[in-house]
Amino acid sequence: MAIPVRKCDAALGAEIVVDLSRAIDDRTFTELEGIFHDNIVVFFRDQHLTNEQHIAFSRRLGELEIHIVKKYLLPEDPEILLVSNIKNDAGEHIGLADAGFTWHSDTSYRKNPSRCSLLYAKEVPHRDGKPLGDTVFANCIAAYEALPDAMKRRLAGTKAIHRYSMRRRVDNSPRPKLTAAQLAETPDIAHPIVRSHPYTGRKALYVTAGECIGIVLRDGEQMPEDEALDMIAELDAHCVRPEFCYRHSWRIGDLVMWDNASAMHLAICDYTLPERRLMHRTTVIGPEPI
Ligand code: SIN
Repeated sequence: MAIPVRKCDAALGAEIVVDLSRAIDDRTFTELEGIFHDNIVVFFRDQHLTNEQHIAFSRRLGELEIHIVKKYLLPEDPEILLVSNIKNDAGEHIGLADAGFTWHSDTSYRKNPSRCSLLYAKEVPHRDGKPLGDTVFANCIAAYEALPDAMKRRLAGTKAIHRYSMRRRVDNSPRPKLTAAQLAETPDIAHPIVRSHPYTGRKALYVTAGECIGIVLRDGEQMPEDEALDMIAELDAHCVRPEFCYRHSWRIGDLVMWDNASAMHLAICDYTLPERRLMHRTTVIGPEPI
């Protein structure tokens, strides 16, 4: 029997009706993967998952990343990164409080960036009965396909340089400083601006103003910085045009899974304590982009 799927009225996104706490056989899993590749963002409502079930389902998609900022990992399950604005008794955030406040693709600063991320909603902020803290996703395959041919030719063979510490927080202060060892673990990395999807081969734009700091041309020379930053900003703005986007309004128990090779995303920070947001994220490592 086919898995029930409800496509969103947007350029990407679909709801899949499956209870992820139950055993999923290989045939069903392969079908799920196909739906995922077709829709780029899929979500499963009303889930009741233990950490182990969240991790086990994620592991079927590949090896899991242990996030570079260790203090926000669950000590007993370090594959789970807490994304949260909640503070402990010492007044410190219990999770990454500013994850995703600029458009980005998860761990694009890695040589092997994330294939996909799975974010599970434990607490969702509300005001006047309305959920806050939505996440917006942009379809970078559709964005690439909509580019004029001249721009496609110009981008062929170019790379964007991704930097971890580039991303700015909502208050415009830089990310927390990494230790020397963490910096050594995340050197700048150049990835193709137009990447081919590792499973479907479809081409997508892979460049974000949040994390890219330069462009390497086809001949290996770097584009002048001003020109590169302008082009990065232009491509980023193109990708996030409303017609390429889906905005997810969270409910407790949602598990949203997105394809980092063909989408970028943005977390909307329209809430503040005592409005609490708590998410558990697993991140699946992908192949080197080509
Ligand atoms: C992320 O960028 O991984 C977090 C997205 C979110 O919290 O909505």
